[in-house]
Amino acid sequence: MNDKSNSPASALQWGGRFAAGPDAIMQAINASIGFDRKLWRQDIAASRAHAAMLKATGILDPADVQSIDDGLAQIAAEIEAGKFTFKESLEDIHTNIEARLTEIVGEPARKLHTARSRNDQVATDFRLFVRDAIDAIELQIKDLMLALASRAAQHAATVMPGFTHLQTAQPVTLGHHLLAYVEMLSRDAGRLRDAKTRLNECPLGAAALAGTSFPIDRNFTAKALGFDRPTANSLDSVSDRDFALEFLAALSILAMHLSRFAEEIIIWCSAPFRFIALSDAFTTGSSIMPQKRNPDAAELARAKTGRIFGALIALLTVMKGLPMAYAKDMQEDKEPVFDAIGAITLCLSATAGMVRDMTVNTQNMRALAASGFATATDLADWLVRILQMPFRDAHHVTGRLVALAEAQNLDLAQLSLTDMRSIEPRITDEIFDVLTVDASVTSRTSYGGTAPGNVAAAAAKWLDTLANP
Ligand code: ARG
Repeated sequence: MNDKSNSPASALQWGGRFAAGPDAIMQAINASIGFDRKLWRQDIAASRAHAAMLKATGILDPADVQSIDDGLAQIAAEIEAGKFTFKESLEDIHTNIEARLTEIVGEPARKLHTARSRNDQVATDFRLFVRDAIDAIELQIKDLMLALASRAAQHAATVMPGFTHLQTAQPVTLGHHLLAYVEMLSRDAGRLRDAKTRLNECPLGAAALAGTSFPIDRNFTAKALGFDRPTANSLDSVSDRDFALEFLAALSILAMHLSRFAEEIIIWCSAPFRFIALSDAFTTGSSIMPQKRNPDAAELARAKTGRIFGALIALLTVMKGLPMAYAKDMQEDKEPVFDAIGAITLCLSATAGMVRDMTVNTQNMRALAASGFATATDLADWLVRILQMPFRDAHHVTGRLVALAEAQNLDLAQLSLTDMRSIEPRITDEIFDVLTVDASVTSRTSYGGTAPGNVAAAAAKWLDTLANP
């Protein structure tokens, strides 16, 4: 596809001063067409808006603008059909398109670059690209939230152990656990929306860095490209990549959330837990151990987080020492962003797929919830509520009861009343009512708590919100 011949980007752009073309190594380090060709739609849309503005302001002849516009439409069709030859010698997507436009329409094409520069052009294209990516990723987040909320509604009363320090802490419901991720994901979507609000200003017309002496209408191009307004400072317009950094920061937090969930899926699938099983659709077998069913999709969702954090750090590092305004360093902004988008898109799809695919082993969840003294807090709360003990004393008594049960290799609910009374004589057999996992979760009715009623209501609320945004 790439034509590496030394055809003249130099002649088109700085031919006046440079007699020879760049040598091969210069071309190799300088060219971005290998990756920035992804911006072709945005580049053509921005050029069409720019041309229309040049016409509306009387800077260009309507006839010239008509040929430019027709030529750009033809180029879009050529690229779409895979019939466009991208040339490395023409450096980047902007010059490739402009050179082809010159081949197609001749002289008018040479007027398109009036009152703009590749500096404001690339800033505009890249903002448009990231804006589209935000919209697509937000839809994917919503789809994952929907998958989680549906499973949560189904498992509003499914008891599982809740952990702190990965030690059994108190029983919770699976629905509650899944809805915790729905909350995280809704903040992730909110962060992306916030980033989009700040991103949505149009740098086109800042030209190289200082603005232009032509009577351009920046509101015209901003509006035509769906931006809220033009950017206010021409230097900032061409030197700012905050929008890409903010996007990568939001993706990093999102990826971190997905990685935590992936880790839980991996734990839940493991032999000691067996809380869930994934079908062949989301697992692979081992080439040597026939019994294995490995949760590779979850492991890769966990691992791809590294690329996304890496993209953020890479771009922060590229930007950190750059003086105003544009520097070629900034061409290194694109690959990390493209890579992060590819990774997060896969992670979101795979995670939604696994949530829909997993079968839940409710017995195993319940059995583990009932072990490990998960209802010790319920016992202490009973002592406080019924015997009016200060919580600290109740905690101490409960600790002694746990030690006794542990010594007899029993769970709390299996201790005899006599044994319990040997530690606290006022205990009655009513205490056994609070020692079951169901009683425990059902009692957690405080706002945001894990009681099945709360969870069913929260799941229903999310399902409704997601269906009617
Ligand atoms: N390919 C360049 C980039 O991605 C376009 C801008 C080039 N500007 C310049 N002054 N050389 O950043």
